[in-house]
Amino acid sequence: MGELSVIKNPAALTPDFIPPRLVDREEQMSTLKMIFDDYIKSPGSFYARALLVGSTGTGKTITSLKFKEYASRSSTVRFIYVPCWTHRTMHSAVRHIGESLKMSIPRRGFSSDELLEIIYDYLKDNDMYVIIVLDDVFHIVNNSGADSLGLLIRFYDEHIGEHDYHFSLILIDRDESLLDKLDAGAKSTLGRNIIKFPPYTKDQIYEILRDRAQEALHQGTYNDEILEMISDVTGARDGDGGRGNAKQAIEILWKAALTAQQQGSRRILPEHVRVAIKNTLPVHVGELKGMDLHEKLFLLAIVEALRKKRDVPYVTFGEAEEEYIMLCERYGLRTKRSHGQLWHYLKDMEGTWRIIETRLSGKGMRGRTTLISIPYESLNVLAQELTRILDYELAVR
Ligand SMILES: Nc1ncnc2c1ncn2[C@@H]1O[C@H](COP(=O)(O)OP(=O)(O)OP(=O)(O)O)[C@@H](O)[C@H]1O
Ligand SMILES: [Mg+2]
Repeated sequence: MGELSVIKNPAALTPDFIPPRLVDREEQMSTLKMIFDDYIKSPGSFYARALLVGSTGTGKTITSLKFKEYASRSSTVRFIYVPCWTHRTMHSAVRHIGESLKMSIPRRGFSSDELLEIIYDYLKDNDMYVIIVLDDVFHIVNNSGADSLGLLIRFYDEHIGEHDYHFSLILIDRDESLLDKLDAGAKSTLGRNIIKFPPYTKDQIYEILRDRAQEALHQGTYNDEILEMISDVTGARDGDGGRGNAKQAIEILWKAALTAQQQGSRRILPEHVRVAIKNTLPVHVGELKGMDLHEKLFLLAIVEALRKKRDVPYVTFGEAEEEYIMLCERYGLRTKRSHGQLWHYLKDMEGTWRIIETRLSGKGMRGRTTLISIPYESLNVLAQELTRILDYELAVR
């Protein structure tokens, strides 16, 4: 028998992979086109500048790369992409631009401003037009100061009479506070051309994962619910910063697939996803000891109900309630909590304890019902821990 394999194309799960399609970034893409189309169609006609902002994993880098693909098809304008996490000073960034143009740049003796002039003359002499992308430009601001960036943004202010603009600029940053660090002139030009990248919702993350899984994993090794489970914990939620990050979602998918494969499983199971989530997200699950006795019992009921369906990451509220009633009987507890009280516990476990996630069932089921999952911790670990606490508390009562 051949080795069981879950991952078909590992490259599709790496950060460098360029997916064939971008999910829900049409608006950002068309704004980029609007700002740069004239520059691309008649190169040098004006100085186009844009600032892409959004928190980590919102698709800024990938959108700029897709824009490069689009622009390179139709024009003679070249793209020079500068990863500022590698080129952390203005000097290093400008050197990199020169090297991308295959210029021989003197090693020392020139300031970044002087190097930029040398590069500009080279572009003029060779009748070349470029769009420079400075990705994660905050590195340069942190190391070389905002003034050096301001000078680049207002480069042509120092070239009065110049009407042939040999380079344009795309800046990428995580938030708009960059603007406040710039001089008034630079701030106002750039401020007019901000393109925002909001955090991804659960549905958007789900779509990104679905596309990615299709590229990366063998058919039949995952299902919709596995992808939903990951989007539950990575998709943006009101008032909860730090979520909506596609990078994290893809990382979780990759880790879960790898674990499944290493354990010789044909499919990714919810338990593989739980471990991957725990290893990826900095989630702090509350101390379970602090929960009410019956809240702990209800949580154990959810755990047990989930354990009965090894393949499925969700149980319905009804299934959890049934399990709770059985548990109360097993522990010899005559007074059980009402349906309404259990519902209250459920909200508490989601909001305060951060141990479960809920979602409404899709169209498959009759009516809409609440589905419950436990994505942050292995069920075996939870079952052991809860049973230990409950055995003790019930013994000393
Ligand atoms: N709309 C999308 N459709 C498909 N894949 C996406 C989309 N947005 C992001 N991704 C994928 O998610 C990952 C993160 O995206 P990207 O690197 O562009 O984020 P970023 O905003 O540049 O984050 P950072 O600020 O950390 O650099 C990449 O693997 C990218 O391919
Ligand atoms: Mg990026």
